[in-house]
Amino acid sequence: MQVLTTVVEVRAARKRLDGSLGLVPTMGALHDGHLALVKQARVANDCVFVSIFVNPTQFAPNEDFSHYPRDTERDLELLEDGAVDYVFMPSAQEMYPEGFDATVDMGLIGERLEGKVRTGHFMGVATVVLKLFNIIQPSRAYFGKKDAQQLIVVRKMARDLNLDIEIVPVETVREPDGLAMSSRNAYLNPTEREAALVLWNALSLAREMWTRGARDAETYRIRLRELIESEELARLDYVSVADPATLHEVPRIQGPALVSLAVRIGRTRLIDNITLGE
Ligand code: PAJ
Repeated sequence: MQVLTTVVEVRAARKRLDGSLGLVPTMGALHDGHLALVKQARVANDCVFVSIFVNPTQFAPNEDFSHYPRDTERDLELLEDGAVDYVFMPSAQEMYPEGFDATVDMGLIGERLEGKVRTGHFMGVATVVLKLFNIIQPSRAYFGKKDAQQLIVVRKMARDLNLDIEIVPVETVREPDGLAMSSRNAYLNPTEREAALVLWNALSLAREMWTRGARDAETYRIRLRELIESEELARLDYVSVADPATLHEVPRIQGPALVSLAVRIGRTRLIDNITLGE
């Protein structure tokens, strides 16, 4: 496994490679969710690249950029075990040199849900992902369904901007009790960790309502909101039942519907989702 830190090094390595290249973009603090993406990339491609870059432009000023978990040594060990060929670990200066100005504006889809609460977040995500695509030039890129809106935004960017890259979605990896794996779970103390299960309980309730035949979306929003508010440590940011293509809230569940949640547990903000009616 080779660790590269500059764009020039990546370009030189890329020129020497034949066959398909799978890219897994990450911000490090790797867990089994990230490793599921690596595994899927490994079986489908001749060469696997993982990027580790805590991207400053996708964090709002009041967010956790400065204390986002970082553990490069452990990350590299995990990637070595995952038979990754190259790790790209640029500095912020390498990605955003003096005078850097360009951004990718994804329009309205980047302003709903997470984008409404985290202003500028998807502009930061789309810009860094497009830069990584242009630097590494993958055939396929792997994204987790855990960050459903991010996956939708990246797919739309690939389609709207005619990128010749297959965007591959990967199922959410969960802890045995249902909590979606996330680098931010490391912030939770034991009481908060228990309270965090409320996200999975709410999504399980949605699944159960679907199975029982409930189709009125507002009923889902009300029931899920009630359940989350019954957890003392939880503060709900939003509960959404939306069309996965547009992220517009739907009145009734007819086709596939993305049920997504953002909840604060203490000072930690967690998101999760499921798709009903696929
Ligand atoms: P990060 O949060 O490190 O996640 C990297 C990738 O791992 C994303 O595609 C995310 O959806 C996926 N992932 C995280 N937890 C997962 C889980 N429990 N199951 C399955 N996949 C999971 O997302 C980012 O970084 C950044 O926004 C990035 C795309 C790298 C751009 O900076």
